Amino acid sequence: PITPVVLCGGSGTRLWPLSRRTFPKQFVPMVGGRSLLRLTLERLSRFSRVQAIVSGEEHRFLVTDAMAEAGTSGDLILEPAPRNTAAAMALAALHLGEDDRLLLFCPADHHIQDAAAFEQAVRRGAPAARAGSVVTLGVNPSFPATGYGYIEPGEEALPGEGVRRVRRFIEKPDRATAERLLLAGGVLWNAGVFLCRADVLVAALERHAPDILQACRAAMAASTAEDAPSGSGCFIRPEASSFEACRSESIDFAVMEKLDSVGMVPFAGAWSDVGSWNSVAELTPADDCGNRVVGNGLVQAAQGTYVHAPYRTVVALGTRDLLIIDTADAVLVADRSMAEQVKDVVARLDGAA
Ligand code: GDD
Ligand code: MG
Repeated sequence: PITPVVLCGGSGTRLWPLSRRTFPKQFVPMVGGRSLLRLTLERLSRFSRVQAIVSGEEHRFLVTDAMAEAGTSGDLILEPAPRNTAAAMALAALHLGEDDRLLLFCPADHHIQDAAAFEQAVRRGAPAARAGSVVTLGVNPSFPATGYGYIEPGEEALPGEGVRRVRRFIEKPDRATAERLLLAGGVLWNAGVFLCRADVLVAALERHAPDILQACRAAMAASTAEDAPSGSGCFIRPEASSFEACRSESIDFAVMEKLDSVGMVPFAGAWSDVGSWNSVAELTPADDCGNRVVGNGLVQAAQGTYVHAPYRTVVALGTRDLLIIDTADAVLVADRSMAEQVKDVVARLDGAA
């Protein structure tokens, strides 16, 4: 069996004003009224029950709501403060038991259209994971992104159809390196999904990030458990002072770049980390002029304009390559080429974010 674990701690500031600190993007209704977290839970129901969701204390009821909508149950590990993915994954592995069961770590905030293809790719990776590799999902890169991990596959085949050993894992390269990697060819983006045995992950942390593992061990040893409402599972609370003392680093930098035994199974289906308003826009079909409208938007004589208007009527007349996002208390109007910069504005807004 494959045990899914969901990482649900991101803040998604690039999707302001829809995504807020108190209501981050994974909880926002986004595709046909469903949140990315709900869609993730539904996708993972193809494997065994989602056993753990790692999230922030302040979001516990948003998570239990999404679990109820998706008809799933599982324990919620509630972090007193975010300490990035190495710590979040360590908490889950320690909670579920450091044995040889296969854990499938999935981000809560990605969109994968074809759940069956996703399931097939993951199952292909299982034999290599059982044999002791941390298996990643590789997607075809389309531009020299600096916000993703890059996977350089080697020649060696690992157990499982299409699984290859990874020669090098390069997390968030600078622009020049990303361009070089793409030119060299054959590299893939890391989709942010990891399949590995619980004991293999713990051993990898022990070797490459022992301080993180130790802080998480202390926090879990003194953790408390409480029944969650509506029988959805337990609220597990790692002890705050040991956990807050933990170093904040992503699994990619802390472990994946340094690990010897990394596998990769290619995923050919559509994948999006819904990281900016441009990628949200792409979830909605475009008209002949490349305009996309959600809710009560209306476009005329416009081109490449995205209007997100869940409440009021919002009209875009003769606009070009604009993002127009209306919410109850804030409006964003941005040139499409500036979508990545939204997070910089949010840093300036602070209170309103
Ligand atoms: N519980 C918890 N606690 N979850 C967290 C935390 C945390 O402190 N930090 C991040 N997460 C969750 C996020 O919600 C997201 O679902 C997932 O872990 C990945 O974190 P991101 O912060 O979104 O990572 P990234 O996008 O910069 O990079 C990762 O994903 C890329 C693909 O989207 C890396 O794995 C890259 O290599 C990869 O290409
Ligand atoms: Mg991400």
